[in-house]
Amino acid sequence: MVDERKTIRIENYGDGITWLVLNRPDKHNAMNPTMHEEMLQALDELEADEQTQVLVITGSGEAFCAGQDLQEYFRELDNNPEKRLKISRASHQWRFQRLSHFPKITIAMVNGWCCGGAFTQLFACDFAIAAENAQFSLSEVNWGILPGGNVTKVVADCLSYRDALYYILTAETFNGKKAEAMRLINYAVPAEALREETIALAQKLMKKNPYTLRAAKEAYRAVRTMNYDQALEYLNAKSAQLKTSDPERGRETGMREFLDRKSYRPGLEPYPRHS
Ligand code: COA
Repeated sequence: MVDERKTIRIENYGDGITWLVLNRPDKHNAMNPTMHEEMLQALDELEADEQTQVLVITGSGEAFCAGQDLQEYFRELDNNPEKRLKISRASHQWRFQRLSHFPKITIAMVNGWCCGGAFTQLFACDFAIAAENAQFSLSEVNWGILPGGNVTKVVADCLSYRDALYYILTAETFNGKKAEAMRLINYAVPAEALREETIALAQKLMKKNPYTLRAAKEAYRAVRTMNYDQALEYLNAKSAQLKTSDPERGRETGMREFLDRKSYRPGLEPYPRHS
């Protein structure tokens, strides 16, 4: 299935992976108001889509995303406060709230330029893989603004103090290998292997119980801002909830397959899902 919209494209070839592609290649996939509205709508649809087990966000052409569209998002909305409010809300909702709470696994596949506002969706995805030659740029100070729209916040949460301030203030570009060394992404691979490596990661994750993965990522994100006692309490409650709500009964299956049937070893692999 290929669903072409005005500024995005949704692809799914029946293997559980949905490719959500920012599709304004002539503008390096800069995010304009239509793209924000279409992405918000698409994420709402895909949350409940049974064909989507893993969601990959990427860009068409040479860029992942060149950030907010300076003409259509900034200049044209400067004198239209009502539309600015509506679009800025959509922009934050899809790039942060929807993506970071997306119930399936999400992967940012950074195929080229990743600038400014695009760091938000990069950070919100569970995984990020980039081409070694992809270029990253916190370009805001170069055109007279600070990294707003929560870009400074995600950079502060992801990079070290020194690296974050260095790139916020110099706006120097860095490539995929450097992004890997700074742990902004999981790993960088040669550009020609990017899609295949992304599919390999998605396939590895699809072998595991999706209800467990969802609970595990929700739990990780939630405990990051809790103290030790709160986290323990929360994780106990979350574990109890998973035990009763998991339609696969993963906990029982996992124990039965290891202890009784000896069909796998959890230290090395997931339990066979359709046993
Ligand atoms: N907003 C609006 N248009 C953008 C854009 C953006 N953020 N980024 C790229 N474009 C447009 C260019 O205006 C150009 O359009 P045109 O062909 O109609 O003139 C087209 O995309 C290609 O960009 P160009 O600058 O010619 O490509 P390049 O390969 O020489 O340079 C970049 C790539 C990413 C270095 C450069 O496009 C750039 O600096 N973009 C702005 C990035 C930015 O600051 N983003 C942060 C916004 S929060």
